[in-house]
Amino acid sequence: MSDATQRSQWGSKAGFVLAAAGSAVGLGNLWKFPYITGENGGGAFVLIYLFCIVVVGLPIMVGEVFVGKLAQKAPVGAFGDLTPKGSPWKLVGALGVATGFIILSYYSVVAGWAMHYVYLACTGAFSGAETPEQIAAVGEHFGALYANPGLNVFWHTVFMAMTVGIVIVGIQKGVELAARILMPTLFVMLIALVGYATTMEGFGQAADFVFGVHTDQLTGAGVLEALGHSFFTLSLGMGAMLTYGSYMKKADGVVATSVVISGLDTGVALLACLALFPITFTYGMEAAGGPGLVFVNMPTAFAQMAGGTLWAILFFVLLTFAALTSAISLLEVVASYFIDELKWKRWHAVTLTGAVIFVFGIPSALSGGTELFGTGFQELVKSVFGGDGKNWFDSLDYLASNWMLPLGGLGIALFAGWRIDDVKRREGIAEGSKLGAVVPFYLAWLWTLRIVAPIAIVLVMLHAVGVL
Ligand code: PHE
Repeated sequence: MSDATQRSQWGSKAGFVLAAAGSAVGLGNLWKFPYITGENGGGAFVLIYLFCIVVVGLPIMVGEVFVGKLAQKAPVGAFGDLTPKGSPWKLVGALGVATGFIILSYYSVVAGWAMHYVYLACTGAFSGAETPEQIAAVGEHFGALYANPGLNVFWHTVFMAMTVGIVIVGIQKGVELAARILMPTLFVMLIALVGYATTMEGFGQAADFVFGVHTDQLTGAGVLEALGHSFFTLSLGMGAMLTYGSYMKKADGVVATSVVISGLDTGVALLACLALFPITFTYGMEAAGGPGLVFVNMPTAFAQMAGGTLWAILFFVLLTFAALTSAISLLEVVASYFIDELKWKRWHAVTLTGAVIFVFGIPSALSGGTELFGTGFQELVKSVFGGDGKNWFDSLDYLASNWMLPLGGLGIALFAGWRIDDVKRREGIAEGSKLGAVVPFYLAWLWTLRIVAPIAIVLVMLHAVGVL
């Protein structure tokens, strides 16, 4: 598997789609999307997000998977191989490795919360709440966990260890097998939850909140967030899709698979909202609850439902699974740089990068507490990051999602759109793909990638820094 002369490949076409969908569907869909939708007032934000997925995300996904498949290399090597020696394009790959490193460091902390909630659910913490005090107590678990450095570090450690374990086993046996089992389970679980939510009183209000056009709370920062999130949720702009594409077989097309992956990912994000907001409104809770939304609102509802413990276990296991298949892809990007470029053995590369990311994630695990590094550390972080109240964790998420991913996406779009030889590109998009061989379709994709997506990214960024 780590043999440099025989590069590993997916066992099947479904393997690639499942693993890539596993990368895309994650905390971004189930944790982050509902909470940023809530914070940005619902409908209009969702619409802009959908626009970004179709006009920016999807064309770049096709471009990114295509570059990976063409180069058969992880990001840095891919850009290096497809350009002359010393070309600055390699920096786009390097930016991707750095982005993956940063994202995984705090992603693992949130995944750790999900695992702790599985544990809490098993202890029966989310059942049988009747009095207002009991109901309020359920929501308080999150605050208690968030502020507890020891628990955060413990679960961060467990989650990173699991991720490292799977990535060491390698592409076909580890990643593909995990995704094959976990992804379908996740879909079934989520649909069951939405089915339940449709029977709730607040379902109508929730559907209107998510699908109605409510522009009142939308801001410029919200638009940047929608753009950044469309990259985050599709795992774009840092080479995760490029790396997974590099394990594709020649006969597998990049167009249809990208459409399926984006469709599944968007579907899961919308379903997550349709599971969460009916509960939020039925129980009269706050839609703009911030990062704790899923961890406060869902359990509060479970605790008042018949069979709450079971639903809660189901939901948080689902969240952990979804996080795991995404974390795997983040680590795969970072580790495969060392495997492909420096010829390290797979297990050396994975263990070492996993350990360094783990350490870098510790401040995120401590972001909610003040005990270990003390308030002084938090103040320092706030002053470094501009002092707008963001702690280490928030700051890294803001930096990576809203700036590094769109910037990486811009690089990939320009590279795939302008830099790659036209004949190779045309052949590559048509290879194994009926749709990709249709000339008007190809041209529509190409010009969206060349012009529309880059302009959209630049405009949103200029707007965010106040130039526009
Ligand atoms: N797409 C993943 C999610 O939605 C996160 C991720 C981002 C994974 C970038 C890989 C690369 O949770």
